Amino acid sequence: MSGRLEGKVAIVTGGASGLGRAVVERFVAEGASVVIADIDDAGAGDLARALGDKAAWVHCDHTRTDDCAGAVAFTLDRFGKLDILHNNAGGPFTGAFADIDDETLDRVIGLNLMGSLKMTRAALPALERQAAASPAGACLLYTSSLQGLKAKPNFSLYTVAKHGLVGLVRSLALELAPKNIRVNAVCPTVTETPMLQHFLSGVASDREEAMARLRATIPLGRMPEPQDTANALLFLASDEARMLTGVALPVDGGQMAM
Ligand SMILES: NC(=O)c1ccc[n+]([C@@H]2O[C@H](COP(=O)([O-])OP(=O)(O)OC[C@H]3O[C@@H](n4cnc5c(N)ncnc54)[C@H](O)[C@@H]3O)[C@@H](O)[C@H]2O)c1
Repeated sequence: MSGRLEGKVAIVTGGASGLGRAVVERFVAEGASVVIADIDDAGAGDLARALGDKAAWVHCDHTRTDDCAGAVAFTLDRFGKLDILHNNAGGPFTGAFADIDDETLDRVIGLNLMGSLKMTRAALPALERQAAASPAGACLLYTSSLQGLKAKPNFSLYTVAKHGLVGLVRSLALELAPKNIRVNAVCPTVTETPMLQHFLSGVASDREEAMARLRATIPLGRMPEPQDTANALLFLASDEARMLTGVALPVDGGQMAM
């Protein structure tokens, strides 16, 4: 039986860990060839080797224009085309807005918003070529966050960046629809990845207590796993979602319905 992404080529930024890693594993299992574009050379290399010929890795800090161009060039050289770019790399921020210095402002917005803009810009010519060559078109995906749709105190810069990604998705969905490039985002709630550690201490000093409190905020009563977000992205990337563009899909166990 053929996979749901058979023959497609994808780049996943931040693909060495957490949500991105789950996406890389799922996309490869569904028949795609995937380039892991990450600053974690050891983690990306280990994952690519474990997955075999259908995975490769390239050092890419997506906040650097040259690295983004290099990741796209590497992908075209290795796999010959690009069908899917998943802009996933990002990182945490918590703190009072009044305390934010210029370095923090540039770093958090750079990592969570500017990097995805730069990577998108670098990949667009290759995606446009592929969309023109294939009736299935091409596809841009973003990992936003529930903080891209709603807000809570002391998350200002992260919230600005993740809302920015949702705005980008809606704008590009309209701009690129005539070229048959679909543009969608997932908006996960708290998910157990290495990044979650950053938030737990702000919830409760005891880890189990913090996890229980977070779970209690989710109507389905369980915390999503990285695979839940990967499953949503698999659907959005697949031809089954051919009429979906401009969507910011919560992966939140019902929190947005509250
Ligand atoms: N874990 C959550 O609760 C959660 C919830 C909603 C959204 N998100 C978003 O999901 C995405 C992935 O987060 P995660 O939880 O898997 O975190 P993670 O820390 O497990 O993984 C992040 C990956 O990004 C890579 N990375 C960091 N800076 C980079 C850069 N400049 N260029 C390229 N790669 C870089 C890291 O090396 C790492 O492999 C982020 O955008 C995050 O904001 C996470």
